[in-house]
Amino acid sequence: MRRPLIVGNWKMNTSLADATVLATSIRNAAEDLDVEIVLCPPFVWLIPLAEVLDNAPPNVCLGAQNMHFADKGPLTGEISPLMLKGIAKYVILGHSERRIHFSESDEFINDKMHAALNNNLIPIICVGEHKKMPLDKRERGRPTKTELRSDVLNQLSKALDGVSRNQAEKIVISYEPVWAISKGTVQSRNSADGAYANAVIERLRQTVARKYGEDIAQRVRIIYGGSVSASTINEFIYQPEIDGALVGGASLQAKEFINICRQAGGRE
Ligand code: PGA
Repeated sequence: MRRPLIVGNWKMNTSLADATVLATSIRNAAEDLDVEIVLCPPFVWLIPLAEVLDNAPPNVCLGAQNMHFADKGPLTGEISPLMLKGIAKYVILGHSERRIHFSESDEFINDKMHAALNNNLIPIICVGEHKKMPLDKRERGRPTKTELRSDVLNQLSKALDGVSRNQAEKIVISYEPVWAISKGTVQSRNSADGAYANAVIERLRQTVARKYGEDIAQRVRIIYGGSVSASTINEFIYQPEIDGALVGGASLQAKEFINICRQAGGRE
């Protein structure tokens, strides 16, 4: 069975002091949490947090929120895979905030996928539609195939372009409907319902199976992201296709995040 994975995406939040307290609390709780935990702080806190996580239980590690695909060069403000290697184990790629605010294209994201895999960084590739998809009555209330193909499945296929079978089993896919991602306030949280997310994730897994075979598809972890909190995690974690969550806003409070991990770890 795929072990639940909970990713905390801190986005552009936390001071060094906040980040240290948050990571320390999570590290101290991790041993009792039956999930894999990835903390993705802002780049500048990766090195100090690597120290905080020194000697941490093996189920907690660091991830980066983004990177460039090039090893080095005249790219002001960018971070390369070589710089992350050895500090971060995971890297989030293609988050909708990068696609929207920094105009990242599917091709650019695909280049980063290759760079991450070639440098032993595990990509957490994010895909998601902008508007809630209409449900198809004949398909037992699942989003329609045409809608799925036009956005979510397309993004995944493009991200996987040229990725080999061996590489594919390592990746994590995060299904993040853009409309469900909070805008930074508790009031703006509007998560998808579990059945909807499960239906989309089932189709994402089928896409992986068609390309790489059912055995690989069963090994790839596919998680859900979008307004997950301690009060909504159960909606997702008991769905058969959902292997965990990418948590934004609610990952900034230690108690809330640990509670999410505890509930996810309690999954049958
Ligand atoms: P949120 O962010 O949990 O704050 O909605 C999720 C995400 O960005 O994936």
